[in-house]
Amino acid sequence: MRCMSDDHTHVQEFFTARAADWDRRFPDDGPAYAAAVAELGLREGGRVLDAGCGTGRALPALRAAVGRSGVVLGADLTPAMLREAARAGRNRDGALLLTDVAALPLRSSSLDAVFAAGLIAHLPQPGENLRELRRVVRPGGVLALFHPVGRAALAARQGRRLTPDDLRAEPNLRALLTGAGWRMTSYVDEDTRFLALAVRDA
Ligand SMILES: C[S@@+](CC[C@H](N)C(=O)[O-])C[C@H]1O[C@@H](n2cnc3c(N)ncnc32)[C@H](O)[C@@H]1O
Repeated sequence: MRCMSDDHTHVQEFFTARAADWDRRFPDDGPAYAAAVAELGLREGGRVLDAGCGTGRALPALRAAVGRSGVVLGADLTPAMLREAARAGRNRDGALLLTDVAALPLRSSSLDAVFAAGLIAHLPQPGENLRELRRVVRPGGVLALFHPVGRAALAARQGRRLTPDDLRAEPNLRALLTGAGWRMTSYVDEDTRFLALAVRDA
């Protein structure tokens, strides 16, 4: 049986090995991140968390959306990814937190939105973990689950086949989100982007 710390160790080893090259591997994704962030509907002064922020690729767009009076946080479990974020100067756009998104050091209902790119597939308990993301968002706040590559294109790149039990298949994700207290409001799965949006129910 795997325990939580096995999962953490696995995630940290996987991303530590990739941290230094992460941004170089995907140099053209910036506009896709900015377009996905725009869908959150953030306003000047808003408060947003990038969950599993990695090297902080979404932080500049999140900061631009909420302005200097807003709050931008980036949370990640892998120190090497956060070091790369700081090296790239993205700690100027958001405060970097070394933490597990399964237990966030944040007050309940303190945020307007959570942005999570490439995160959900790495969560050991996705239902529980989505519920923790819900805890920190105010009623009516928004969650974006994003990936700059669609499911089919990603599976092809990784040399695997898409199966009906895929966590991010629309019916599976809708049910998962509903069970965690989110209402899925839109779902797009194209070659060049995956984006599911959900609203926190009251
Ligand atoms: C595929 S990378 C995506 C990074 C970044 N969001 C991006 O789009 O470039 C997934 C990130 O999630 C982080 N992660 C995975 N599980 C996590 C958890 N339970 N809590 C916090 N971060 C986690 C990993 O360390 C990694 O940096």
